[in-house]
Amino acid sequence: MRISVIGCGYLGAVHAASMAKLGHEVVGIDVDDAKIADLARGKAPFFEPGLEQLLLEVQATGRLTFTTDISAAKGSKAHFICVGTPQKKGENAADMRYVDAAAAALLPYVAAGDVVVGKSTVPVGTAARLADLLHELQPQAHLAWNPEFLREGHAIKDTLHPDRFVYGVEDGNDDHPAAALLDEVYAAPLSEGTSRIVTDYATAELVKTAANSFLATKISFINAMAEVCEAAGADVTLLADSIGLDDRIGRKFLNAGIGFGGGCLPKDIRAFMARAGELGADQALSFLREVDAINMRRRTRVVELTRELCEGSLLGKRVAVLGAAFKPESDDVRDSPALSVAAQLQLQGAVVSVTDPQALGNAARRFPELNFEPDTDRCLSKADAVLLLTEWREYRELDPHAVADLVSTCRILDGRNVLDPAKWRDAGWSYRGLGRPQA
Ligand code: UDX
Repeated sequence: MRISVIGCGYLGAVHAASMAKLGHEVVGIDVDDAKIADLARGKAPFFEPGLEQLLLEVQATGRLTFTTDISAAKGSKAHFICVGTPQKKGENAADMRYVDAAAAALLPYVAAGDVVVGKSTVPVGTAARLADLLHELQPQAHLAWNPEFLREGHAIKDTLHPDRFVYGVEDGNDDHPAAALLDEVYAAPLSEGTSRIVTDYATAELVKTAANSFLATKISFINAMAEVCEAAGADVTLLADSIGLDDRIGRKFLNAGIGFGGGCLPKDIRAFMARAGELGADQALSFLREVDAINMRRRTRVVELTRELCEGSLLGKRVAVLGAAFKPESDDVRDSPALSVAAQLQLQGAVVSVTDPQALGNAARRFPELNFEPDTDRCLSKADAVLLLTEWREYRELDPHAVADLVSTCRILDGRNVLDPAKWRDAGWSYRGLGRPQA
């Protein structure tokens, strides 16, 4: 099938390459010349494991092209809208300008029988509004909402082998022509037995925000338990292991630490609260305010704990921060808790050095005032305290004896609870985890 993908960021670039991998003929379209130039020569404009290899593989088949010219969408049967919906400046609501601009540019090229497929995370009500716009121009075309659940760092696998497909269609019926077309697009993953649910527009839009809110709530729940564990002298990692063995609870997304960040969970729960307020259902989501507050408290707590580790004062203390990305296997620093902590420490007088295997370029653009050091050993050199804030494998596997030879004082704060406290303490370190007992 001929497919167009509008927006080639973390979502669209992976979607375009994956759809070509499934055998479709795909054109990726974006307004950013530099991004398109990179993609056109098989270079991923961001770090995502396996993406460059996939781009080169599918481009060699001739099934994937990239352009800044939106008219290239003409002739495609399915048009996927994959642009971002960041948080509005100074407000909780989602900024819809990119979705609206993409739709306005695309709709004149949509032909009878085509399906426009929204994948961006949007406030409930958006699909119905865009469907009206589409039908004014092309009454014979359809609009579907098909939310994306991919995780950065696992984006290709999540796109090619998702847990489920959700199709929001105008009448909510299984036999709607837009559902049939999406079945054709996803024929290969569907043949593996992937679940498929057809809903009305509003439900499909809400599925995505509800899923992200649930994940955020799960993380904040365990971080709240970490606060109680700290007060009671208990260990939140053993608590998570124990409650996680109950099938109904599950161990995933119960890792206490410095909290969630990234381009999705923080802004999605805020946009969800804002939209519920507009709908008169704000009370239903008031708990998300607490989820957000617990999450933000983690960052303050890490700063406090670092001060405690440094014997009460951060002034002039050399702090080595391991990790800048919001999570490992990503170079994304949007709302990164690690960088937020690093910046706070610096503001409070510490001399901070940040390292990361992939995210230093993006981090330096966002926080030019911080010192970035690509070499881990040099970052650790003469540190008065080490903070592990993003759990890249190379940091999880650090040898406490080798690191002890580099630093000035053996103090470590494990912001992700991924190190073995006994191993580090036995090597002479003063170790602090989050929600774990002090020695
Ligand atoms: C998330 C959703 O998982 C995905 O389904 C949706 O499509 C987009 O948003 P992503 O932002 O890539 O994906 O990251 P995710 O793996 O969910 O992690 C989000 C944040 O939570 C990270 O900062 C991570 O470090 C943190 N986290 C995750 C925890 O602090 N503890 C956990 O147990 C799990």
